[in-house]
Amino acid sequence: MEIEPLTPVIGAEVHGVELATLDDDRFADVEAALLAHQVLFFRDQEMELDQHKALGLRFGPLHIHPSAPPGAPGYPEVLKVHADANTKRTAGDKWHSDVSCDAEPPMLSILRLHTLPESGGGDTLFSSMYAAYDALSPAMQEYLGGLRAEHDGGPNYRDRNRRVGYDDSEREYPRAKHPVIRTHPRTGRKALFVNSVFTTRLCDVPQDEGDAVLAFLYAHVAKPQFQCRFRWQPGSVAMWDNRCVQHHAMWDYYPEVRSGYRVTVAGDRPM
Ligand code: SIN
Repeated sequence: MEIEPLTPVIGAEVHGVELATLDDDRFADVEAALLAHQVLFFRDQEMELDQHKALGLRFGPLHIHPSAPPGAPGYPEVLKVHADANTKRTAGDKWHSDVSCDAEPPMLSILRLHTLPESGGGDTLFSSMYAAYDALSPAMQEYLGGLRAEHDGGPNYRDRNRRVGYDDSEREYPRAKHPVIRTHPRTGRKALFVNSVFTTRLCDVPQDEGDAVLAFLYAHVAKPQFQCRFRWQPGSVAMWDNRCVQHHAMWDYYPEVRSGYRVTVAGDRPM
């Protein structure tokens, strides 16, 4: 197995690995590389949905999305990631970490795309929340370290449903309060944990103060020096750690098709 970092800050492409048939030693190497680089990329991976699920299960129990329907009949733990000429809004088209509105947000997402736009595009950008935290002043780190933020699935999921004409006004979506700065349970590193898709307010500060701080942080997490960018090919897999990474899927290929499946691994309560 060969690991080729994309940047010194975040991301590595892994060569010489078949994810569908990893033995235990290789799995341990992949897990260690993920903890070191935060997001890993693999090319030319043949993986049926059962194998994709089985790979996720090696990391832990699978997460079931609170809003999206099963990605395929009989696969509630698989999320279909798909856009075409009829799409009104794509999944992940703003900076976010997956389903951070859950009380225990998913720790890991594993996305395999099988169909990409012919004209190119459809890249995914990843930003290191370790690097975003490290770049803050000590005074700002201390201020944020004492705060929690509310994350609410309602605004995002309702907006998506409204665009496709699905009335979900009676439906409840997850809502949770999380520390603004979380400590990664495996690496012990601190990471910024607010995002523009799910975070609605800072708790226990005046609304205008919270709005201004969040606006600053949303611009901060999008700084290019914290990022890497992945150009997909059919059969590519990206595996990202939601505890320390945000991502943004570019929708620059309309009306072409981009399609695949995501398996998401359950996480624990951010601390
Ligand atoms: C997502 O899981 O948020 C979508 C990522 C992508 O389509 O690249």
